[in-house]
Amino acid sequence: MNVPFYTATREYKNHKAEFDSVLSEVLEAGDFILGKAVKDFEEKIAAYTGAKYAVGVANGSDALVIASDILGFKDGAEVITPVFTFFASSSCIARLGGKPVFCDVDEDTFCMDMKDAEKRITQKTVGLLPVHLFLQTADMSSCMALAKKHNLKVLEDAAEAFGMKELYNGSLHTAGAIGDMGIYSFFPTKTLGGYGDGGIIITNNEEYYLKAKSLRVHGATKKYHHDYVGYNSRLDSLQAAVLNVKLKHIDEAIEKRAAHAKQYSELLKNVPQVKIPVVKTKGKEVYYVFNILAEKRDALQTYLTEKGIGTTVYYPKCLHEQECFKYLGYKKGDFPVAEKLCASVLALPMYPELTEDEIGYVCEKIAEFYKR
Ligand SMILES: Cc1ncc(COP(=O)(O)O)c(C=O)c1O
Repeated sequence: MNVPFYTATREYKNHKAEFDSVLSEVLEAGDFILGKAVKDFEEKIAAYTGAKYAVGVANGSDALVIASDILGFKDGAEVITPVFTFFASSSCIARLGGKPVFCDVDEDTFCMDMKDAEKRITQKTVGLLPVHLFLQTADMSSCMALAKKHNLKVLEDAAEAFGMKELYNGSLHTAGAIGDMGIYSFFPTKTLGGYGDGGIIITNNEEYYLKAKSLRVHGATKKYHHDYVGYNSRLDSLQAAVLNVKLKHIDEAIEKRAAHAKQYSELLKNVPQVKIPVVKTKGKEVYYVFNILAEKRDALQTYLTEKGIGTTVYYPKCLHEQECFKYLGYKKGDFPVAEKLCASVLALPMYPELTEDEIGYVCEKIAEFYKR
C-alpha cells in the first residue's frame, strides 16, 4: 500500500465540479487582482473567525511581515517567539531589523512556554509572537496577561491553526483573533489550504486593518498615492475562489481529521516507543498535523518510507541553531525541550480523505518496526 504524506488530488476529485465552476467564473470575469472572490473570502473569514477585519495577502509569511511592520516588531525592538516553529515565525521580525528573542516550548503542547517567555522580557521588548502549532493553541490567557503586565503587542501566528479555538475570558475564541493581530497561511497542506500560496491577516483594530490594506498595495490608500513604503502582497483571486469552496466544507474536513487522530491514537496507544499527542489547551483542537514522538525516529522514518508511507519531520532543527540566526548568540543546549522535540518528532499522514485502512496500515508498520 502507498500512503502519501499529503495529496490535494483526492479532494479536488471529490469537489471537481464546484472548483471548476468558481475558477472559470474568475477567468471569465478577468478580475484576477483583489477581485470579487477575494472580497467575498475576506468577509467569510471575518465571520468564521469572529474578527472584525480580514486582509488577504500573498502568503502567511508576508502576513507575518506586514503585521510585524504595523505592530513595530522592527528596528532593534525585541520580540519573544518560540524557538520550535516554522522559520517564518521569526524571520518576519529579523527581516524588519527587529531582534527575535527565542523562548522554549511546552513539552506537551509544543507551543510557547509562557513562563520561559516572561524571563526573557527586557526594556527593549515590544511584543510577543506566539505560534499555535500542529493541533492546539498556545496558552493565550497567560500570553495576554503577560502582554498586559508588560505593555506588549501580541501577534498570533495562526498559520497552522485554522479552526482551532481557545477558552479565553470565559468564552471560546478563535485562534488568531485574541491578540492585536493574527495571521493564517493557506499553503496547500494547511487545514484550509489553497491550490498555491495564500495568506490572511485578521484584527479587531480598525487602524491596523486600514494600514494592512494599504501596505499590501505598496502603501497606497489611493492608487498611485503612497503613504507608506509598502509591499506587493495580495491574495490571488483564483486562490480565493478555491478557498471559498473549501471553506464551505471546512467543518466536515476538520471532523474527519479528528476521527483520523482518534484512530491513530487508539492504534498506537500500546506502542511504548511512541508518544501520541497530548491535548492540554482548553478549547477546540484541530489536527493540522498528527505528530508522534518516536524512539529511533530516523530509522522509523526510513522504514516507513520503504513501506510506501510518507512522513515529515516538523522540525528537524531549532531556530537558534539555524545558520542565519548565529548572530543572535545562542548555543546548543539553550532550549532543552525544543531540542529534544527536534530529535524525536515525526508527522504521520493527516488529511480528510485518508482512509481507515490507510491509517491501519501506517500503525501496523510502526508497531512492526519496533517488534523486529
Ligand atoms: C507556523 C507557520 N508560520 C508561518 C508559515 C508561513 O506560511 P506560508 O507558507 O503561507 O508563507 C507557516 C507555513 O508554512 C507555518 O507553519
